[in-house]
This record gives sequence, C-alpha cells and structure tokens, in this order.
Amino acid sequence: MSKRALITGITGQDGSYLAELLLAKGYHVVGMLRRSSTVNFERIGHLQDDLELVSGDLLDEASMIQVLRAHQPEEVYNLAAQSFVQTSFTQPVLTGETTALGVTRLLDAVRMVDPGIRLYQASSSEMFGKVVEVPQSESTPFHPRSPYGVAKVYGHWITVNYRESYGMHTNSGILFNHESPRRGLEFVTRKIANGVARIKLGLDTTIALGNLEAQRDWGFAGDYVDAMWRMLQQPTPGDFVVATGETHSVREFCELAFGHVDLDWSDHVVIDERFFRPAEVDLLVGDPSQARDVLGWTPRTGFRELVEMMVDADLDAVARQQRHLA
Ligand code: NAP
Ligand code: GDD
Repeated sequence: MSKRALITGITGQDGSYLAELLLAKGYHVVGMLRRSSTVNFERIGHLQDDLELVSGDLLDEASMIQVLRAHQPEEVYNLAAQSFVQTSFTQPVLTGETTALGVTRLLDAVRMVDPGIRLYQASSSEMFGKVVEVPQSESTPFHPRSPYGVAKVYGHWITVNYRESYGMHTNSGILFNHESPRRGLEFVTRKIANGVARIKLGLDTTIALGNLEAQRDWGFAGDYVDAMWRMLQQPTPGDFVVATGETHSVREFCELAFGHVDLDWSDHVVIDERFFRPAEVDLLVGDPSQARDVLGWTPRTGFRELVEMMVDADLDAVARQQRHLA
C-alpha cells in the first residue's frame, strides 16, 4: 500500500514541488486548500488529477481534525503560512494567527487524531534575523526582525515542545531562502526575473526595488523539498538547517539576471523607499553540515544556474502572454 501524506500550503511554491516529489515516490498525496472565491491552481494545475484536494484552514482547528480523520496520513508537511515578510508588518495579528498559532492548531489536531503521524514544520532562516553569528546553524540563537520572524520562532518552539512533551515525531526544517520560477511575484528574486523579462521584451523600462545590499543564501526550491522528506524518514525527529552555505546580495542577483539577457542592471533599477522594511535582516548564510551528515542532503543547483533558470522561465511566460494577447 502506498504511503499517505498531507500537505498544507499545496497551492504555494513549495507545496507544488513537494507534491511532485512525493507523487514520484508513489505516495498518495492529499493537499489542503483554504477557501477562496477564485481557483488558485497555477502551480498545481499539472498535478490536479493525481492529487486529492481537500478543504481546510490553519485558522480552523476542527477543519484539520476532520481532514486528518478522513484521510489518515502517515506524514504531514505544514507548509501553509502568511509567508511574505513585508505583509507581516502591516498584518501582524493575522500573521501570528496563521504562521504561529496555526502550527499549534495543527500539532494539536495531529496529537488528538493520531500522535504517531510524522510532522514537518516549515521554519525559516528569518528567525535568525539580526544574526549573532555567521554562518547560522541549528544552535545559533534567534533574533527575529519582523512579525513573520517572531511568528516562525513560536512555530519552531511549539514543534520542539510537542516532540519533547508527547514524544511525537515533529521536525523543524530551518530553511534559508529558496526560489524558483514558481516563486510569488512579490518576492525579490521573482520580481527581478519577471522585471528583466518584461524589460527585455519591451513591456517595461524599469524595476523599483528597496535595499540592494541585503544578502541572502538563495537555493532552488526543487532541491529543498527533498530535505523535508528526508527529515521524516529518520528514526528520530530533529531540527535541521537547509541552505547552500553561500550568500549573495540583491545587487548581485540584479547583475546576473540583467547580464543574462545582455542588459546593464544600473540602467533599469530604480530605488523606491516603499520597498524598504521597518527592520531589516542584512546577512543570512546557513551552515547545512547537519543536513549533509545526517540526512545525506546537499543542494544541487548553483546561484548562477538558479538566476538564469528564473529569467529564462519568465522570458518564456511573458512571451507566451504576448502571443496570447496578439
Ligand atoms: P507560499 O508560496 O507563500 O505558500 C503559502 C501557502 O500557504 C499557500 O498555499 C497559501 O494558500 C497557504 N496558506 C496561507 N494561509 C493559509 C491558511 N490560513 N490556511 C491554509 N493555508 C494557508 O510559500 P512557500 O514559499 O511555498 O513557503 C512554504 C512554507 O515555507 C511557508 O510556511 C514559508 O513561511 C516557509 N518558508 C519559506 C521559505 C522560502 O524561501 N520559500 C524559507 C523558509 C521558510 P493560498 O494559495 O490560498 O494563499
Ligand atoms: N520583496 C522584496 N521586494 N524584497 C526586496 C525588494 C523588493 O522590491 N528590494 C530589496 N528587497 C530585499 C528585502 O529587503 C530583503 O532583505 C530581501 O530583498 C529578500 O526579500 P524577499 O524576497 O521578500 O524574501 P525574505 O528574505 O524577506 O523572506 C523569504 O525568505 C524567508 C527565509 O529567510 C520568504 O520566503 C519567507 O517566507 C522565508 O521564511
């Protein structure tokens, strides 16, 4: 019999890559969707016939109890969250309800329905915030710099707490930024890739950005979902940093992305105060040695390859839209 997995956040970037990975491994995959007035299957349309999609919301514990009872997964991947840092400054309470308390609701639902279920919690390098050491590892203290980061710290510790209190197989993956052609358009990498494609194809002339000096450890989402799966296959649960160990600035991302289509970024990037944050995370770089040694996980996609993959995908997508409109 095939293993059964539940993914919350199935419509998101990571949900779509994880669903592909689990389906390829022969899992029966149940994806939890929240109600919306329009269908939002851009990332999972190609998988729709292979997935079982069910309705539930991190804000509603009873909905998750029902899903768990009805579908009896052996593994639960909690990828759902209000995941955009900038929005967390304007909607801090909603962010806390979803990204922090939502984790407790799900953990409690799992504990009540079947405490033997293995659970993955999508924790974040944003928890390190104002970093106290470089690179950051599983033992680096947290100093979050946004309501999102604060909510993720809560989600992390409640995951550890359910492991210690109830002996549950709950895992916290401390993932550094990971991107892809399926990244939301509001995040800086996709905003740049999409902007480059639109400028190259004559639809725009500039992109407005905020802090170009911010540095991130950027990997490919398709590589990172494999680390999530590996955590749940271990005999004992734990916390793992998942990162490339390299850091690059937003400015470097621009240089490579524009350079890939023979443009000079400084001719097209304008600075707009609206995209600066009240408090910033300046330098994130992870130490993934524990993921390598215990999980046997290493990133496969390099920084330049990632940037070029994203720009090429947006060039294709924008050209397709242009043909459609012609
Ligand atoms: P994403 O693309 O923004 O996807 C978020 C998902 O959460 C969407 O499917 C969204 O549904 C769902 N969601 C939001 N509120 C919900 C609610 N109340 N109930 C149920 N579902 C809800 O995020 P991602 O990049 O795939 O990231 C996946 C997870 O990893 C998130 O928890 C994120 O915080 C965390 N993380 C991401 C990164 C990264 O670099 N990508 C790094 C570290 C940690 P809708 O489609 O309906 O909005
Ligand atoms: N979004 C955005 N838009 N960011 C900009 C811009 C802009 O126009 N200009 C500069 N930046 C800078 C931000 O100030 C930030 O320092 C950096 O680019 C990355 O911003 P995002 O791409 O929005 O990602 P993030 O690092 O804040 O958050 C992502 O990574 C976290 C892991 O560290 C999200 O995926 C989180 O959900 C995730 O936990």
